[in-house]
Amino acid sequence: MRPLNEFVRKHHGQVELGCYKKFMSKKIKNLAKLKPATRLCHVGREYAEHGMVNPGVYHASTFLFPDVATLNDRHHLEYSYGRFGTPTSRALETAIATLEGGHMCKVTPSGMSAISTALLSFLKSGDHLLMVDTVYWPTRSLIDTMLTKLGIETTFYDPLIGKGIAALVRPNTKVIYLESPGSQTMEVQDVPAIVAVAHAHGAVAIIDNTWTGGHYFKAFEHGCDVSVQAVTKYIAGHSDVMMGSVVCNEAAWPQFKAAYEALGLFAGPDDMNMALRGLRTLDVRLERHQKNALVVADWLRGQSAVDTVLYPALSNAPGHEMWKRDFKGASGLFSVILKPVSEEAVAKLLDGLELFGMGYSWGGFESLVVPFKPHRTATNWTAEGPCLRFHIGLESPDDLIADLKQGFNRLQNKS
Ligand SMILES: Cc1ncc(COP(=O)(O)O)c(C=O)c1O
Repeated sequence: MRPLNEFVRKHHGQVELGCYKKFMSKKIKNLAKLKPATRLCHVGREYAEHGMVNPGVYHASTFLFPDVATLNDRHHLEYSYGRFGTPTSRALETAIATLEGGHMCKVTPSGMSAISTALLSFLKSGDHLLMVDTVYWPTRSLIDTMLTKLGIETTFYDPLIGKGIAALVRPNTKVIYLESPGSQTMEVQDVPAIVAVAHAHGAVAIIDNTWTGGHYFKAFEHGCDVSVQAVTKYIAGHSDVMMGSVVCNEAAWPQFKAAYEALGLFAGPDDMNMALRGLRTLDVRLERHQKNALVVADWLRGQSAVDTVLYPALSNAPGHEMWKRDFKGASGLFSVILKPVSEEAVAKLLDGLELFGMGYSWGGFESLVVPFKPHRTATNWTAEGPCLRFHIGLESPDDLIADLKQGFNRLQNKS
């Protein structure tokens, strides 16, 4: 076998063994200038060694120090203890921070832990939180239990409030939390207007940016300070990983990092590796999710049993204009309000579907559907018909529509 250093010298003009890392970072001079799809293919690969394409999967808790002087100086080392980072975590965190256009990133064991850590980082006893009414609903149990117990007060606000949120701000409001589009009912928020109010009052703007995996909505370009994601969804993309991420701007980073380390969070190396693998194909997967979802959503809009399709990418759908203004694309997740019909009829539609699974997630390659009842406290949900949330996967939309067609026939007792 040819020695590696000879291979490296020949192909990369390098003379030292182990300098591939240097080669990678030298080769791509300005990653930021490249198109998003290109960036996703290359970012974080400076952590790969020995000429390999992918960074290694490091299972590491203990890092050894060669002498006492190095041990005493460990806080200046890139690696000192497993939980503070490995080449595997650095590669993924660099990739997600770049994807989102933020300063730095940390990954967490789930999307929910990304949300809780971000909130706990910027709130303390006596503070006030403004929380969007359409937030991923388990966040409400965090608020009802831990945040309330810690003496943090929360006001839920209408997702469509826009700059009117100023009227809800109090002197002790420290965080305004957004999620756009809203969980289940897909309201598109006026992010720049809300963020402007947050900043005018010295509050931190945190957004749940999971809907397009951070790819088609650039939270930091729209002024957000912190972007949280369920990496579980589109970044990992294959329904086999639980993970979250928190990306901060430069100002928010030190406070968040201190809380993250104090709470002792990290994620497993194999999961991080799978998430990084998923991220490489995010651009191409999302493009197809969007294309398929537009076809299926448009077909659903034409069904007599359907009242409204809540998919901001669809022309004339609620939130379409705001989506066009702020987003570069859409994902495969949307909802539908049916015309009033019994629960039994909805069960008939759902139970016989062959291609759509019923499960509480989304962002994988496969299509899903779940019935839901909107949970609101600051606003009223007035629609009378049942609601369904669809995730359109990478299957052929023709096959998906044929499956749904049978389902709507069952709902209307036509089969
Ligand atoms: C918008 C959104 N944010 C966060 C989460 C939480 O992610 P996880 O299930 O990884 O905790 C979810 C999960 O469904 C979600 O839909």
